[in-house]
Amino acid sequence: MSYRQQKVVLIGDGAVGSAYAFAMVQQGLAEEFAIINHTKSKGEGDTLDLEDATVFTSPKKVESADYSICRDADLVVICAGAAQKPGETRLQLINKNLKIMADVTQNVVKSGFNGIFLVAANPVDILTYAVQKISGFPTSRVISSGTLLDTARLRVALAKEFNVSPADVSANVLGEHGDSEFAAYSSASIGGKNLLKIAEEQNISIERLLEIENETRHKAYEIINRKGATYYGVATALMRITKAILRNENAVLPVGAYVNGEYGVHDLYLGTPAVINAHGVEQVIDVQLNEREQKAMAHSAAVLREAVDRGMN
Ligand code: 2OP
Repeated sequence: MSYRQQKVVLIGDGAVGSAYAFAMVQQGLAEEFAIINHTKSKGEGDTLDLEDATVFTSPKKVESADYSICRDADLVVICAGAAQKPGETRLQLINKNLKIMADVTQNVVKSGFNGIFLVAANPVDILTYAVQKISGFPTSRVISSGTLLDTARLRVALAKEFNVSPADVSANVLGEHGDSEFAAYSSASIGGKNLLKIAEEQNISIERLLEIENETRHKAYEIINRKGATYYGVATALMRITKAILRNENAVLPVGAYVNGEYGVHDLYLGTPAVINAHGVEQVIDVQLNEREQKAMAHSAAVLREAVDRGMN
């Protein structure tokens, strides 16, 4: 069987997009990496810069391109769109970015693209919903970064609190990638032991855990207030999802996936663990929630439903 080279196309070479491109080069993922950017010179400049980097990582074709390159791509990653300004919520970006997303999706589909969409622009749950509806692609092949970054943030905070490595904290942030997200503490664990039980033994109160949840929810604002944007975290999360897809990993990651019945929520994209492989979302894993978490999920779904209905109509 002949080996087919893998191709990833990035659309939107801003702060997040270019950090993602750099992460992809560092990881040596995808033999071909193409950049489509509204301002062509920025995409071309990054292409020239990144091809120098490939000398020290692994051979890779990096190119600046137009939409026709999407035709035989495995993955199209959409980072195009306006980013939050200090104090602005993700949902406030909806009008600006829905229009951009519609244009981008139509152009990609027109190329004959038949791979997987990975969406990172905000408000990511709403825009991913729009990409799926506009493209008509199966929901399994339209994914977003969802709450993967928030989950990383939660794990970093819990790792500090419990004095263990973040890689060994198993805990998910679910729901909206935004202000209504929540930590699913009842299913969280460290070394296979329930996190709430460990907290109780170490005199870490529920209040403290809820404070950590809140800090996780607001971490993007803290970063944006200090340096104007967030990009390394989300770019690396996108790289992680890319790797799961290109290497057909069956990795379980909390991403933005389509739910229709899971958690009692219908026809929405939101953050939930899912099995990710070369087909996209192979399976949504609906985590068991306690009463507090069920309420938080219902609230998050209501926020998203309202935004989808307002944005799409
Ligand atoms: C983040 O959470 C702003 O959505 C972006 O870093």
